[in-house]
Amino acid sequence: MFESLRAVPADPILNLSVLYRQDTNPNKVDLGVGVYKDEKGHTAIMEAVSRAQERILFEENTKAYVGIAGSKQFCDLLAQVTLGADHNVLADKRVAVAQTPGGSGALRVLAEFINVAKPGATVWVGNPTWANHIPIMQSAGLKIKQFPYYDRASKEVDFDGMLATLTADTQAGDVVLLHGCCHNPSGADLTLEQWQTTAELVKAKGLLPFVDIAYQGLGEGMDEDAAGLRLMANLVPEMVIASSCSKNFGLYRERTGAAMIISSNPEHAILTQSQMNGVIRANYSMPPSHGALAAETILADPKLKQMWRDELKTMRKRIKDLRSQLVDAIKAEGIEQDFSFIERQKGMFSFLGISAEQVDQLVNKHSVYLVSSSRINLAGLNQHNIAYVAKSIAAVL
Ligand code: LMR
Repeated sequence: MFESLRAVPADPILNLSVLYRQDTNPNKVDLGVGVYKDEKGHTAIMEAVSRAQERILFEENTKAYVGIAGSKQFCDLLAQVTLGADHNVLADKRVAVAQTPGGSGALRVLAEFINVAKPGATVWVGNPTWANHIPIMQSAGLKIKQFPYYDRASKEVDFDGMLATLTADTQAGDVVLLHGCCHNPSGADLTLEQWQTTAELVKAKGLLPFVDIAYQGLGEGMDEDAAGLRLMANLVPEMVIASSCSKNFGLYRERTGAAMIISSNPEHAILTQSQMNGVIRANYSMPPSHGALAAETILADPKLKQMWRDELKTMRKRIKDLRSQLVDAIKAEGIEQDFSFIERQKGMFSFLGISAEQVDQLVNKHSVYLVSSSRINLAGLNQHNIAYVAKSIAAVL
């Protein structure tokens, strides 16, 4: 049965970590996979998470199943974090929520849910988008079409192109996948005005907005980063949201996230919850508990919550500082090409905007690891390696 199988190409992002680990160059720098690192290059456990885990160790008294949709408290608290505690869709009981194995789990659950509601529906994804969006949507049976998103010449969102395509080429019932904040891979986000215009278009055309928010808190702040999504939820009758705790709680390996479905009324929210639970039961049955338990322990305790918000602020500030420092360091190498766009972009990622051959040289000659699209993870920079990275960039330009 297996003789006809061929190997799947290595994942373009995750394989970088494998190559990086094998590299013996003492100057090697990992700007690949989107994981936050501190000044020492270490992805430390957040202090608030450590405190929550200590508490769980003493207080948790069962390992019985958590249930198909996970912990009710986690779902409620994460919906508040994502949508804002006073959002009218929560007050109106229009939201179905399920705890999922990471943001990817939420994306897959929601894609399958959409495929139940409208088999073979078309999902419009921006060009470019996160490398795993397309496989996840396609595996669930959905069709993919693309709208222009990032303009590589201006280094800004190609909002005119995006709007023109979504206006001319979409049909009612199509899905539009948007990044809540900190666009992966470009770092170029929609402004609030652009969210408003997009929301009006989505509503007028009867499209379903699908918002993936995996980096909330790493751009401008927890509320600021969710403002576009919250505005969208105010305007449209139906919407789905994939929310991740991987980056903002640093819970990567614990696989913690949530799928949220906003319906036009509370009766439909009960129906969508049951359908979503059906998708989950037939897939992985129910989510793992530990990461969500840590997140809900933090969110339910004002002191731990404040500690977590402060830590997140430090991470956010560090990334912003590194953006400016990289621009300065490249300038200091005598490079005339303008890299100042890096300072204007948000979150962990930006494209350097160099060719695949130049990326190849950075990786293979200089041991600076980045995605072939030239996406870098700014958090992989530190005071020890930033000059080396700038010098290496200058060398390949
Ligand atoms: C990334 O884009 O680097 C992260 O989201 C990690 C991943 O799974 O690709």
